[in-house]
Amino acid sequence: MSKRIDPEVRVIYGRLWHYVTPHKLIGTIAVIGMAATAVIEAGLVALLQPLTDEALVAKNLETTKWIPFAFMGIFVLRGMSGFATELSLGWIGRSVISDLRREVFNKFLTLPIKFFDSQAAGPLLSRMTYNVEMVAESVTSVVTIAVRDTLTVIAAFGVMIYFSPTLTIFVAILFPIVAALVRLLGIAFRRYSGRIQDSVGEVTQVTDEVIRGNSVVKAFGGFAYEQERMADVDEGNRKQNMKLIRVRSFGVAVTQVVFGFGIAMVIYVASQQSLEGSLTAGEFIAFFSAMMLMLQPVRRITNVNATLQRGVAGADSLFAVIDEADEADSGTIVAERIRGDVSFDKVAFSYGNDDSAVIDDISVDINAGKTLAIVGHSGSGKSTLASLLPRFYELDSGSIRLDGTATTDYTRGSLRDNISLVSQDVVLFNDTIRNNLAYGQLRTCSDDEIMAAAEAAHIADFAAELPNGFDTMVGDRGVLLSGGQRQRIAIGRALLKNAPVLILDEATSALDTRSERRIQEALNALMKNRTTLVIAHRLSTVEKADKIIVLDAGRIVESGTHAELIALDGHYAALYRMQFSDE
Ligand SMILES: Nc1ncnc2c1ncn2[C@@H]1O[C@H](COP(=O)(O)OP(=O)(O)O)[C@@H](O)[C@H]1O
Ligand SMILES: [Mg+2]
Repeated sequence: MSKRIDPEVRVIYGRLWHYVTPHKLIGTIAVIGMAATAVIEAGLVALLQPLTDEALVAKNLETTKWIPFAFMGIFVLRGMSGFATELSLGWIGRSVISDLRREVFNKFLTLPIKFFDSQAAGPLLSRMTYNVEMVAESVTSVVTIAVRDTLTVIAAFGVMIYFSPTLTIFVAILFPIVAALVRLLGIAFRRYSGRIQDSVGEVTQVTDEVIRGNSVVKAFGGFAYEQERMADVDEGNRKQNMKLIRVRSFGVAVTQVVFGFGIAMVIYVASQQSLEGSLTAGEFIAFFSAMMLMLQPVRRITNVNATLQRGVAGADSLFAVIDEADEADSGTIVAERIRGDVSFDKVAFSYGNDDSAVIDDISVDINAGKTLAIVGHSGSGKSTLASLLPRFYELDSGSIRLDGTATTDYTRGSLRDNISLVSQDVVLFNDTIRNNLAYGQLRTCSDDEIMAAAEAAHIADFAAELPNGFDTMVGDRGVLLSGGQRQRIAIGRALLKNAPVLILDEATSALDTRSERRIQEALNALMKNRTTLVIAHRLSTVEKADKIIVLDAGRIVESGTHAELIALDGHYAALYRMQFSDE
């Protein structure tokens, strides 16, 4: 049978097998349990012969005494072996699920940001839930088929040969015909399993978006549209499942009919033998029961390819994630606390495969402790340029140096340890204000440090008014807070990190003028001793920067101090005048 399994399946199952092998002891228990089950069930049908011939037909007193005990004993053993099998197989299955799930999750932590830019979240989420379950289910089924079902068939065959070799030969000719039929129908399984998993991802995606974007759906009357979208993906899911169900149920029905014909023939031959006196009632019943015992296992063995395929479809998508390359981390220099000289040298970068450069030949130096302001229209590449410094993305060409060393030569972790970031999109976790502030490595900060940062970022003001103060939960992505409050937590987080390089990407955009002014004081104090890249939507906040660069379509079109650029009367002066007249 194994030679008919295609190589791809073999490779993937080979890999899956590594998740099972650590559980040798439990696995041995499972195998013993399954083997015992097979033998016990064969023993059970074999007992039907003395029960019929001796106890019921011949009314043998001796037999009537022991046979109930024999049955009782066999059922006790059957219960025990069944319990051991279920428990140990279940244990292995859940371990495989845990291992796979954690491995994929860990991968999500180390994959480059680019990976997430290019993938919808829904299918990634459903891999963590649906696909891992499918894989584990398939693995345990395959193990069960390989051990219990195979042994059951062998044991049942043994019983059959023992009671009637002639009939056994007859059945042996019949079985392959049924098996071929079942296999044929099972081929269709492969196609549908993969498609069902894809469609579960789509359902997750649409649901996730509606939950997250609920207010937009409501404000823009997206009900009908979303309903349609869900109906669409759900219908796809239903159809794929129905195709699977149709193939399966049709397969079962056809198999049963064919089997029925076979049984009729067996009965015919058996009754001939009975007339000749070469087959007793008990022998026939035991034989027949053994044959029935084989029915399910044979069906599963024949369909083993479909079971394998279901696991392969699930494992394929998991291994695809696991095999993705991690963020490049070839640097070996561990950056202790760096001074903070930053230098961009002919930096070019584009997000996609299309040639349009988002950052185009940018060279600029910032000395330690100085402030560089980046201004320009939205979409000009300001955030992108800033995100290149902590190596969120890899450069297409050119280099960025920190204290004279290329950022790629530092270890990724130590480089990022030296950079504080307040990004344009504030990311908060469903946790307390305190834990959002002291996130990740900041967990170890003392209460005093946390309080000082909270004070400087004006978090203490609003936290005091909340029912649980700093222990108030902020909700999913911080929905329970205002935009300004969220931004203050992000600023507080950066203050707490206290790194030598600071990136402020529109860090105060969600604040009103008064709050902004107050927080700006804290930021000014913070910027004093460190290299700062500041992107500000209000030019009044960049006036004091040591150097200003103006970006347009990823290129530097002007650079200089505020006074120089105003005197130049170019892009910057125009931007400045426009904002000034607004305010
Ligand atoms: N993750 C991304 N994937 C692909 N393109 C992006 C991504 N982020 C931004 N862009 C594109 O890069 C350009 C610059 O964006 P950005 O750096 O955010 O501009 P700014 O911060 O100046 O408003 C824009 O054209 C934007 O569409
Ligand atoms: Mg931006």
